[in-house]
Amino acid sequence: MTLGNPVATPATETGDRPAILGGTPAITLPQDEATRWPIITEEDEQAVLRVLRTGELSINNEVAALEDDYRSWLGARHAIAHNNGTGAIHAALHALDLEPGDEVIVPSATWWASVMPILHHGAVPVFAETEPECLGLDPADVERAITERTRAIVVVHLFGMPSKMDELLDIARRHDLRVLEDASHAHGATYRGRPIGTLGDVAVFSMQANKLVPSAEGGVLVTDDDEIHEKVIRYGHYERLLPMKGSPQRRFAATGFGMKFRMSPLSAALARVQLRHLGPRNRQRTENCCFLSERLEALGFRTFLPPDDVERVYFEFLIGYDEAAVGVPIGDLTRALQAEGALVGAPRYPLVHQQPVFTEGTWAKIARLDENDRSLPTYDPRALPRTTAGNASLIKLPSFPRADRALLDQYATAFARVMAHANELPRETGTSA
Ligand SMILES: Cc1ncc(COP(=O)(O)O)c(C=O)c1O
Repeated sequence: MTLGNPVATPATETGDRPAILGGTPAITLPQDEATRWPIITEEDEQAVLRVLRTGELSINNEVAALEDDYRSWLGARHAIAHNNGTGAIHAALHALDLEPGDEVIVPSATWWASVMPILHHGAVPVFAETEPECLGLDPADVERAITERTRAIVVVHLFGMPSKMDELLDIARRHDLRVLEDASHAHGATYRGRPIGTLGDVAVFSMQANKLVPSAEGGVLVTDDDEIHEKVIRYGHYERLLPMKGSPQRRFAATGFGMKFRMSPLSAALARVQLRHLGPRNRQRTENCCFLSERLEALGFRTFLPPDDVERVYFEFLIGYDEAAVGVPIGDLTRALQAEGALVGAPRYPLVHQQPVFTEGTWAKIARLDENDRSLPTYDPRALPRTTAGNASLIKLPSFPRADRALLDQYATAFARVMAHANELPRETGTSA
């Protein structure tokens, strides 16, 4: 990273003192509408109302219609709607036929739902480092983590940035591992011309209300693999088994496998409208975040702009700050930005491998593994030093779903001012935002 570079910044932006030093805040425009998500219009209301009025509030063709929409959007063979992304991840793991003690390589920098369901399938999460360019699993560290018990990799396209799929898929192929793509942040992203969610054996999209295709609560599992599809159905969709003529899973129709993951048709109605607007809404976020990214790159921040053959989306907008180069703790810098009116903070996700469920050993109980088995791993919160340092260097901004240039200019001014006066910012060293 180049150190904060006031030379590239117009004098008017840096001339005023930062608000935290007694100046006037740079960001004065209202932000509620510019950052509001989800965007709900009359079209959503009508779609939900139409399904509500059918009176068929459990099993309803609207869910199948959403699945058709996903299939044609992604060019995938199967799409199965779920009540949420977490349930869909459980179903995907079930379909991968994990045995007790099997290992699954996962990132620690993710939402817990990418990892915790693994325990309920008797398997052992093995954390690998996150690489600093795309914030996905570091292929070299994945390779290092592979043992004879490794069966699968969970790849998370964090914040909407596709992971290094060529390298990860090559490792999976060489070691005969299954790949579960957690595409919960990445609706609409592409990797070398292929939609995210179609690269691994099975993929899951969360559609929880913050996500790029919100359905209130919901998730969709996508796969081209017929066997995975049938196992996903037997796990959480018993009512679909009887019509599956010729499938060996049909004999479980009266019981399923004990889970019920059906999506509400009201959620499906909302999701179908939201999916229709995904393209333009993603473009608006991308335009806004890229515009601001260029301004922030000039100030020395890393902004995770993707390589030419990768299209990222902006579920969330995170930037990297080099505390050592600037000499101001990230918490102090963040506080100064907040004083300017910027809606910035630390990243939302605490690292999973550092959580008590792992460090205190509770995980083995959840996985019903023998806690005294010495071959089981222990989880050290000091492991994954590169992931820990990388996560601590991130600042989260709004992803500006409806912002205009005037607000983005004010954000750029806020950052420029604070960076120009970095050496004078008040210090509360040791704390973070
Ligand atoms: C990366 C990731 N995976 C999975 C999930 C789980 O999805 P849901 O909240 O729909 O259960 C989330 C939700 O935030 C997520 O961020």
